[in-house]
Amino acid sequence: MVAEDRLVIRQADGEDLTAVIEVGHRTWPVTYGPIAGDDYVAMGLAKWWTQEATIPAIRAGRVTVAEVDHEVVGMASVGPSDGHLTLWKLYVLPERQSDGIGGRLLRAVIAKAREDGHDEIRLSYLAGNDNAAAFYEHFGFAEIERESSGSGIPDSVWMRLVLTQDGEA
Ligand SMILES: CC(C)(COP(=O)(O)OP(=O)(O)OC[C@H]1O[C@@H](n2cnc3c(N)ncnc32)[C@H](O)[C@@H]1OP(=O)(O)O)[C@@H](O)C(=O)NCCC(=O)NCCS
Repeated sequence: MVAEDRLVIRQADGEDLTAVIEVGHRTWPVTYGPIAGDDYVAMGLAKWWTQEATIPAIRAGRVTVAEVDHEVVGMASVGPSDGHLTLWKLYVLPERQSDGIGGRLLRAVIAKAREDGHDEIRLSYLAGNDNAAAFYEHFGFAEIERESSGSGIPDSVWMRLVLTQDGEA
């Protein structure tokens, strides 16, 4: 567990652009290569981990970063989708996983969602990403539906966390 005084969770700004994109480029191949293949990894990086895709999210205040000793080691981003707040990305650098960082990022996202008056958070993970499934279940997320992506890519498994007013979730 990384020491509290070395870990900072904060909203990303323009200075974080390169580091945020780097988190994606370092986590995607190891996370999705084995379950979805190299072509899926290349597609995702080209579509979702570019300056064009990342700048608007940072500008809109939708990206949170985790820093250890002033180095960005993880990120989360949210956005509206179908009238729900959706957690689109949550990634911690491979060598920094299981150190309490992803949990701190997710707790920050949940706290902000509640503060902003949302009654639930949705997210999807790729079927076969069992680590992500167990991590989200640990935080109270429950599966709502599976969406087929076609062409040999694993299903997207949608989950949601209902936010209670008393701060339980
Ligand atoms: C999934 C991920 C974000 C989790 O972040 P992390 O920093 O490794 O997790 P943490 O060490 O902060 O764990 C936080 C809590 O979740 C629990 N947890 C973590 N992984 C778990 C698992 N596989 N099963 C059950 N609980 C788990 C921890 O025990 C911890 O519990 P506590 O806070 O009550 O003590 C991170 O491992 C990651 O980036 N994985 C690869 C990318 C990915 O799959 N992202 C999700 C895309 S949908």
